[in-house]
Amino acid sequence: MAFPPAFLDELIARNPIEDVVGQYVQLKRSGANYFGLCPFHSEKTGSFSVAPNKQIYYCFGCHKGGGVINFIMDIENLSYPDAVRFLAKRAGLEVPEDDRYQSRYREQERLWKLCKDAARFFHQQLKSDAGKPGRAYLAGRGMDWQTVTKFGIGFAVDDWHTLENAMRKQGYTREELIAADLVGEREKDGRRYSYDRFTNRVMFPLIDVRGNVVGFAGRTLDANYQGRKYLNSKDTLIFNKRNFVFGMNLAKKSKQGRIILCEGPMDAIACHQFGFDCAVASQGTSLTQEQINIIGKYTDQVVMTFDSDFAGQNATQRAITMFEKAGISVRILRFEGAKDADEFLHKYGADRFSVLLEGSADQADYRLQSLKSQYDLSKDDQKVEFLKKAAVLISGFPNAIEREIYGAKAAEAAGITPDAMKLEISRAYKNRRRREQKKEEEKNLSPVTALQPAARGLRYDNIRSARAEEVVLRQVLRDASQFELLKDLPPEAFSAPVLGKAYAALRERYRAGHDVSLAVLQDFTPEELAHLTGVARANDEPVSEQALRDCAAAILEEHQKSQQGQGEDALRATLERMKNKKGYGG
Ligand code: GTP
Ligand code: MN
Repeated sequence: MAFPPAFLDELIARNPIEDVVGQYVQLKRSGANYFGLCPFHSEKTGSFSVAPNKQIYYCFGCHKGGGVINFIMDIENLSYPDAVRFLAKRAGLEVPEDDRYQSRYREQERLWKLCKDAARFFHQQLKSDAGKPGRAYLAGRGMDWQTVTKFGIGFAVDDWHTLENAMRKQGYTREELIAADLVGEREKDGRRYSYDRFTNRVMFPLIDVRGNVVGFAGRTLDANYQGRKYLNSKDTLIFNKRNFVFGMNLAKKSKQGRIILCEGPMDAIACHQFGFDCAVASQGTSLTQEQINIIGKYTDQVVMTFDSDFAGQNATQRAITMFEKAGISVRILRFEGAKDADEFLHKYGADRFSVLLEGSADQADYRLQSLKSQYDLSKDDQKVEFLKKAAVLISGFPNAIEREIYGAKAAEAAGITPDAMKLEISRAYKNRRRREQKKEEEKNLSPVTALQPAARGLRYDNIRSARAEEVVLRQVLRDASQFELLKDLPPEAFSAPVLGKAYAALRERYRAGHDVSLAVLQDFTPEELAHLTGVARANDEPVSEQALRDCAAAILEEHQKSQQGQGEDALRATLERMKNKKGYGG
């Protein structure tokens, strides 16, 4: 029996793998992961690991691995459906009758579509004549138009029926609008009146990590407004505010290696506008465990930028404890001279924000001082030595303004001009880049055997293609929306059957709007799942969109070679298309 995907998503969410495995294996936490003795082969040192944020387990000794369902199949020796029933029982979930679930799912799909269409409508309104007050408000707050489009911001006019009428014209019913909390109902003198929930507000679509619009936050334009400054959608069939992190759909693609957690959408949006594309917002509510779990899926480093007036130290302290419990390191950013991130950025700019963010100002000073103390700067040869070392140190600072500031400090200490120092730093910086590039090249030339699957039946025939296929899989598992870039890459082009099969299954789930994760795959043997888990676990960096396109092109190219003439023209055309597409935003 095939279980409905939405049910499986819930089953997995309600059976955290570390809890389930923890009932069989004594686990010890180390960083974000857990380790213990493998229950599937006998061993004295723990090679068995559980990664809660990926919801998978893996044994480096016997190479078994997979999701929670797989684990129960193995350890309890159950069939797939019985393992599902076992876990459903454990979590107090009813195994659904198919029909009921299907119809609930169809209802969800309808609401997703409605919210997306409503977001489109609000955005159109913002662009139209009627949207003038909204545009003026956003411009007044320093938001540029590119940012407005990136977040799909819109405008709800000052009228009780504009949205309802527009949506009903598109075929939606009043019941559906009420179910999505876009329209409210009131009774007066025995008659029922409907009204648009959002009026005279700038509208921020709430978009979940899968890219679905699930609700809205509306900000009033009126500075003297007596009611709520922000109005958020109530919980609906598709929206649960405890479970929602604003901006995560964008921040999850960030390569900045951390998440900046703001209090309000305006702050997160300002961060993005100023280049900090890893910002999200909790929307003012005190942080929930669910929100922490979502953030923990993408990072183990959080910087909180809550308002200085944020409801008490208690809430912040509570958040810190929760993050630390989840294995996420957290720092608190406090702004001087501004009440929140939005204000700070517009007042002082991105560079000052960066310096705060790196929090390394003190550390950099300290390191430069301690370097200086090792040299006698009155002697020329020692001075030269100090400058060289200082240049190497400073070239490693991540941000240009810091390199500038500390370059000047070092120059002053040694009595040379800042420009001379700058030259030295830029030379050290180039050397560093060259070394990094060389390392990257060496990695690409590493022995083929390292890449071969442990299970014999899964051997790779075409290493170049398989390597690219692994990158593609890893990338879509990290961020399923990358499937959008891979429209021209069919599973048939994959050289390794197990990778192709996984790609096909995941793509299917992505298209249906479900979670894309190994933990939910059906119809894979334990060896296959173990291998895929190993592929997913590899710890390399996310690749750029261009690199992903290059991988797709390499796969297609290898496939074409192997086909020798069959359908060559079509493939060549696709290949050319892939190669010529320019990356947007890297
Ligand atoms: P701006 O005034 O637009 O810059 O927003 P802000 O984030 O600076 O506002 P504030 O510091 O007052 O509130 C922080 C966050 O709490 C907001 O971004 C909202 O998400 C939330 N919030 C503020 N006021 C309300 C409200 O009246 N109702 C609800 N539900 N949330 C609110
Ligand atoms: Mn603000």
